[in-house]
Amino acid sequence: MPEASKSGAANLMISVGSYLPQRIVTNDELAMSVDTSDEWIRQRTGIAQRHIVAEGEKTSDLARNAAEEALSRVGLSGADIDLIIVATSTPDDTFPSTATKIQHQLGAHNAIAFDVQAVCAGFVYALDVADAMLTAGRGQRALVIGAESFSKILDWQDRSTCVLFGDGAGAVLLERCETETDYGILATKLHADGAHRDILYVDGGPSSNGNVGHVRMEGNKVFRHAVEKLSSVMDEVLDAAAMRVEEVDWLVPHQANIRIIEGMQKKMGLGEDRVVKTVHEHANTSAASIPLALSAAVNDGRIHDGQVLAFEAIGGGLVWGAALVRYGRP
Ligand code: ACO
Repeated sequence: MPEASKSGAANLMISVGSYLPQRIVTNDELAMSVDTSDEWIRQRTGIAQRHIVAEGEKTSDLARNAAEEALSRVGLSGADIDLIIVATSTPDDTFPSTATKIQHQLGAHNAIAFDVQAVCAGFVYALDVADAMLTAGRGQRALVIGAESFSKILDWQDRSTCVLFGDGAGAVLLERCETETDYGILATKLHADGAHRDILYVDGGPSSNGNVGHVRMEGNKVFRHAVEKLSSVMDEVLDAAAMRVEEVDWLVPHQANIRIIEGMQKKMGLGEDRVVKTVHEHANTSAASIPLALSAAVNDGRIHDGQVLAFEAIGGGLVWGAALVRYGRP
């Protein structure tokens, strides 16, 4: 897909929201049911804990809470929204989409709504689609939500995967700005390579065996692709925006593994004060991880209007991508 480099009119990122289920599961708790340890998980992944949905709590519940926070932060309501995209690989149902459920719950009568499935790269994929649609005149405002209940597709007996993931949701609100600005989505770049399907997949689905299935992963193979592909797509997106890495205020990476995040940090030559890390608290929340990390850093005041943010993610497919955004309103 071609990059979407911008000058002049733009799609602003005017708000963010997030939601985490109340229940926290520590590494020590997991070590009571599978052969693992807090030390192994922390050393190999950086993860200390993860949030897990309660009985009956669904991906749409997480998504709705995150979307409501993003709307209320800027005094808007569902009726002000033209487009809702939910990035998820753990939808409530096979169909209808989780996005249409959110559309109804938010009272977003004017919005079209659909889900995007690009696993851990889902947020950057959905952001790119929303950016392109707003640029094409398909509305003024879009909600892009990453929401996952990965706990529902984990094999809780498989220590190589069950320790890595968590549940949660994050949302951003985009608004079309017709006047010239250097704010908003500056560039995006996506990639896919289905040849690597077998290193990260779910062994179920409606047209394969009819089961929901469980996450299967050759973690070390995924790891080998991660930093190489992420740093290459980051170079591409910087080129597309004609920017240098020095102009990036914050890297807000997909939170899969602290070693991947620190690998990117090193490649980009960024100090500790320019990378948002939430993997220790949230684990890998797939499509939700970037907007959750963004939300945490906006809420504690690290990220504010006018700063340049770099997003990057890789997920099952393989699919990967990056985006550059000058956050907030001019
Ligand atoms: N506790 C203790 N030991 C474990 C655990 C565990 N939870 N899991 C695996 N091990 C063992 C393995 O069995 C293996 O033992 P062996 O040497 O006796 O065979 C040993 O630890 C090393 O296993 P590796 O898989 O080689 O360990 P590695 O250092 O690669 O770390 C990890 C594994 C953390 C999964 C790492 O490879 C990783 O993070 N990869 C990237 C995964 C990722 O980012 N996935 C998300 C992509 S996004 C998406 O689309 C969902």
